[in-house]
Amino acid sequence: MPKTATVNKSGRKSAAPPAAAAAAPSGSALDIKDNRTGKSYSVPVADCATRATELKKIKTENPDDSGLMSYDPAFLNTASCKSSITYIDGDKGILRYRGYPIEQLAENATFLEVAWLLRHGELPSQEEYDKFVHDVTFHTYVHENFRKFLEGFRYDAHPMAMLNSSIAGLASFYPSARNIFDETERNISIVRLLAKTPTIAAFSYRHVKGLPFVYPDNRLSYVENFLSMIARMSESKYEANPTFTRALEILFILHADHEQNCSANAVRAVGSSHVDPFSAVSAGVAALFGPLHGGANEQVLRMIQEIGSVKNVPKFIESVKSGEGGRLMGFGHRVYKSYDPRAKIVKKLADEVFKVVGVDKDLEIALELERIALSDDYFTSRKLYPNVDFYTGLIYRSMAFPTDFFTVLFAIGRMPGWLAQWEEMLLDKEQKIARPRQIYIGPKERPYKSKLKGAKTQ
Ligand code: ACO
Repeated sequence: MPKTATVNKSGRKSAAPPAAAAAAPSGSALDIKDNRTGKSYSVPVADCATRATELKKIKTENPDDSGLMSYDPAFLNTASCKSSITYIDGDKGILRYRGYPIEQLAENATFLEVAWLLRHGELPSQEEYDKFVHDVTFHTYVHENFRKFLEGFRYDAHPMAMLNSSIAGLASFYPSARNIFDETERNISIVRLLAKTPTIAAFSYRHVKGLPFVYPDNRLSYVENFLSMIARMSESKYEANPTFTRALEILFILHADHEQNCSANAVRAVGSSHVDPFSAVSAGVAALFGPLHGGANEQVLRMIQEIGSVKNVPKFIESVKSGEGGRLMGFGHRVYKSYDPRAKIVKKLADEVFKVVGVDKDLEIALELERIALSDDYFTSRKLYPNVDFYTGLIYRSMAFPTDFFTVLFAIGRMPGWLAQWEEMLLDKEQKIARPRQIYIGPKERPYKSKLKGAKTQ
C-alpha cells in the first residue's frame, strides 16, 4: 500500500459549493509513493477529489494485478457524480436547492415551483409556472386499468409496496417513455410522474380503507387535490383545511431533494442502464421504503408508541445505548453532523399544526427523547441529532394519516428530486452504466463435485 500520500498544493476537507471549488489552484496533485514497488505517482486533484481510475495506474509487477482500486463500502467517501442540484454542508446544517436556502423555499415557495427549480436550475417565470401547473394538473388521471391493478392487492397491503409496483407499472402504459434521449418524451414522463404519483398514492390509501377511489379535481391545487382524493366523501367540492394544505406543501418542499442519498443513488444507478424513467424512479421508491431511509418516519412513531409514556424514556435510551433496544429512529444522518435544518422547520411546523388540531398525545415523549439524547454523551459524541423524520410522523398522524402511509408522503415530496437527479445523470457525458468493482474473497477454482445422489462428477 502507498507509504506516503500528501496533497501537494491545496486540499479541502469537505465538499465545497461549485464556486469555491473552482477557486482551487489548477495543477493540484496528490504525490503517492507505492512502497511495494518504490515507484512514485502524481495523481491529479480537482474539486477536492482524485479520480479512482487514476489509481488503476498504480500496479505491481504481478501480471494478475489489475491496478489499485479504492474500497469504499456504502460510499462513505466516494463522489459518484458532479451535480448542481442540491448542496448540503452537514457540519453547518446547511441545505440549498440550486443555491436557494431551504428555509426560504419552505417559507415562500410552492412545491411545483420547487419541482421546476430542481429540474431546470432556475425559478420559473410566471408563464413557465402557469404552463407547468396546467400540464401537471391535466395529467393527474391514471388509466382505468389501475383500478383493477390496485384492487388486486390485499386489504392490508403496505401502501409503499403498492406505490412502488404501480410506479413501475406506469412503464407498461407509456412505452414511448423508453426514448429517454428525446427531450419531449422526457418532459411528458416527468410531468406524468409528478402528476400521477399523488393519484396512485391516494388510490392506495382508499383501497386499504375500503373506500371508493376519488378522481382528481382539476379545479384544485396540487396539494388540495391530493387531500381531496384522500378524504373527500359525498361533497361536490372538497375544501381542505388551509393549515393542513400549507403544512403538507412545506413538507413536500423539505423532502424534494437531498443530493446523493440512498434512493437518489438507486434512481441514478438503475437509470444508468438507460431504462425508462418509471422503472428508474420505482427503484427510488423501493430504496425509500427501508427503515434506515424514508421508512424511518413510520418507525419513529412505532418506537414512540412502544415507549408509551415519558417515564419510560430514560430506560429506552439506555436500551439504545446498550444496543438491546435497536436504534433511536429519527436520529442520526450520514451527512448531517449537526441539527438537520429540515428537522428545525418540521418542529416549528408541528407547533402550527397542533394549534389547529390540538397537541399530539405523544409529543411529550418525542420532546423528552430529544432532550435526553441531546444531553447524553453517547449521542453527542457520535453527532447524532434529530433528522427530518423525527417529528414528521407526529404531524402526519395529527392529519389522520395512518402510520404506514407516512413514507408514501415522503415519496410524493421526493419525486421532483429523483427526476432531476435522473435527468442530470442521463445528460452527464461522464456518466456510464453504474458498475462498481469488488474485492473477490470467495473460493479459488475447484472441481465440481455434486452432493446430490446419482449426480455426475468431474
Ligand atoms: N441510534 C443509536 N445509535 C446510532 C444511531 C441511532 N439512530 N445512528 C447511528 N448510531 C451509532 C451507530 O451505532 C454507530 O456507533 P458506533 O460507532 O459505536 O458503532 C455510530 O452511531 C455511527 O453510525 P453509522 O451506522 O456508521 O452511521 P451511518 O452514517 O452509516 O448511518 C443512519 C446513518 C442510517 C441514518 C443512522 O444514523 C440510523 O440508522 N438512524 C436511524 C434511522 C433513521 O432515522 N433514518 C433516517 C435518516 S434520514 C433519511 O433518510 C430521510
